[in-house]
Amino acid sequence: MAGLLGAVKLLETSRMRMPSIGLGTWPMKGAECEAAVEGALGLGYRHLDTAEMYGNEVEVGRGLKASGLKREEVFLTTKGWWDKSTGPALRAAAEASLDRLSTPYLDLYLIHWPSPQMDLPGLLEALAKLQQDGLAKAVGVANFPAGLLSRALALGIAPIACDQVEHHALLSQEKLLKVCAAHDVVLTSYTPLGKGRVGEHPVVAGIAARLGVMPGQVALAYALAQGPRHGAQVSVIPKAAGTARQTENLGAAGVFLSEADLAAIDALPKDQRMVNPDFRPNWND
Ligand SMILES: NC(=O)c1ccc[n+]([C@@H]2O[C@H](COP(=O)([O-])OP(=O)(O)OC[C@H]3O[C@@H](n4cnc5c(N)ncnc54)[C@H](OP(=O)(O)O)[C@@H]3O)[C@@H](O)[C@H]2O)c1
Repeated sequence: MAGLLGAVKLLETSRMRMPSIGLGTWPMKGAECEAAVEGALGLGYRHLDTAEMYGNEVEVGRGLKASGLKREEVFLTTKGWWDKSTGPALRAAAEASLDRLSTPYLDLYLIHWPSPQMDLPGLLEALAKLQQDGLAKAVGVANFPAGLLSRALALGIAPIACDQVEHHALLSQEKLLKVCAAHDVVLTSYTPLGKGRVGEHPVVAGIAARLGVMPGQVALAYALAQGPRHGAQVSVIPKAAGTARQTENLGAAGVFLSEADLAAIDALPKDQRMVNPDFRPNWND
């Protein structure tokens, strides 16, 4: 990944290389989204997260173009929505995403959510074919709990490089981190700030005040620390519309928490799930 600025770590696995801090783009749309993407890339972000469902792929593509960066300097993820339950439907969704993003390839293409009616082998075949055809450099899943990810890996159909799930200081992913560590799968933490709520917790705010950093930075540093602590690879994709918080979130790469601070945050509740739609899978799988 050429041109990566600052201290943001580059995660490297057998299947992909991904900057450990990316910009989440949901629910931004229109001019706000385009400006946020262009601005973030100007600050040094080199990883963008979007999805068919966000309705902002055109703007993400425009922001990327406006940044003046070369396509290969930026790691770009998008996802096919859960109603694409067969291989052909997912293939068509990926091709439509490429059109909207105005790019010849994706760095990572994900199944956005599992669904009860999905043809899992067929979807994994479509992912493998997207990679073989050069439309996605890496492929993976999102919102797959540990059991479902294990079964998908055991099928051996697609080289699953990533599982993107909700993960933050108020929601642990211990079981999934073990599966990811054993199979060289990156766990990408979405909603890593708990939509801002992690930093509002007095324990997190107190640590931030003592270290002279911002509470959101402590939230992100804690999520990132779960990689080395579990022998796994963890990235975070905080969403911030404006320059101040984008800068702050990127700066989390330089924040390191002591064992005592990690232990204090370990003791917080770990069951505060914030993204839980009707069509969610069995999280205890
Ligand atoms: N795969 C999935 O199913 C899935 C589900 C949900 C999300 N995602 C992805 O993950 C990304 C991030 O998740 P999210 O947007 O749900 O939650 P988040 O990143 O945890 O929180 C975003 C919220 O926190 C605020 N914020 C940003 N930086 C902050 C800071 N340093 N201190 C305090 N508040 C801050 C933002 O406000 P401002 O923008 O006003 O600064 C926004 O309201 C999404 O954008 C999307 O790309 C994926």
